[in-house]
Amino acid sequence: MRIGVLTGGGDCPGLNAVIRAIVRKGAGDHGHEFVGYRDGWRGPLEGESRPLGVPEVRGILPRGGTILGSSRTNPFAGEGGPERIAAKLAAAGVDGLIAIGGEDTLGAASRLHQEHGLPVIGVPKTIDNDLSATDYTFGFDTAINIAMEAIDRLHTTADSHHRVLIVEVMGRHAGWIAFHAGLAGGANVILIPELPFDVERVCELIGHRFESHFAPIVVVAEGAEPAGGMPAQGDGHEDAFGHARLGGVGHWLEGEIEHRTGKETRTTVLGHVQRGGTPTAFDRVLATRFGLHAIDAADAGRWGTMTALRGTDIELVQLTEATAELKTVPESLYAEAEVFFG
Ligand code: F6P
Repeated sequence: MRIGVLTGGGDCPGLNAVIRAIVRKGAGDHGHEFVGYRDGWRGPLEGESRPLGVPEVRGILPRGGTILGSSRTNPFAGEGGPERIAAKLAAAGVDGLIAIGGEDTLGAASRLHQEHGLPVIGVPKTIDNDLSATDYTFGFDTAINIAMEAIDRLHTTADSHHRVLIVEVMGRHAGWIAFHAGLAGGANVILIPELPFDVERVCELIGHRFESHFAPIVVVAEGAEPAGGMPAQGDGHEDAFGHARLGGVGHWLEGEIEHRTGKETRTTVLGHVQRGGTPTAFDRVLATRFGLHAIDAADAGRWGTMTALRGTDIELVQLTEATAELKTVPESLYAEAEVFFG
């Protein structure tokens, strides 16, 4: 077979490990050929690809980002996208696609398979870890380690200056990064999108922390909001899937805390640092295993499925199931971290 590979949506560490595993096993064991589509769904829509053989994937295992490029192109945004993709695949002699992506890329993959009969297999990636059909997505472990290291560093400078330091982390509408990085980094307050917070309570916890002669670290997810809402976040920009560009809650909270407690408060927005650089061992292994299972699935003609981590096993689930529901932080799990607040 001739198989197309694409990476869509926000990049994350481990994408290259998946591509390498697909090509190494697919070209070696199964004797398939590969086409690397550029920039997510833009590649098959415009028929833009690059060669993807064993020589092209040598040395890419530890590299962050994606050698194929990525974009948030939505094949359903304009007229006739699915038909164009089908025509481009046929013209290039491509028998099937492996789409590596998050909620949006895989949502499009699912519709292309369900509604237009295109042969697609999905591989879940995202630093947000918000896909319900898999226990973990690769990229998440690297992101939380980067955020944890930042929190460790912020503790020492916060203590020296007796300041409140806020760390704003990514995660969109799920608080997984904030929760895991905050718990691992010993944050004194963790605020997540799933649970609207009370600014007065945050200030009480900050006051309590200062009684210990240590300074407080507040980890806030970019999608977190106070009960009752706050002035509009972000810059009004929306991507092709209708997602707002988040960010700003950290600086808003900084003003509120400083005003209410009189304590100097500063914010660090970690931003895309969380998505860059080399993947952790956990992410390299998970990404590699996803790639190996994805090419086996393609070889077996299991189109319309996605690789998923269940416990320590990699399983195939239906793409429709994979994108049906957003996985969010349960209240009971959040409660475990509250022991360390204040
Ligand atoms: O979905 C991954 C993610 O990094 C989110 O955590 C974040 O909200 C978003 O992508 C940022 O997207 P962009 O790279 O387009 O700014």
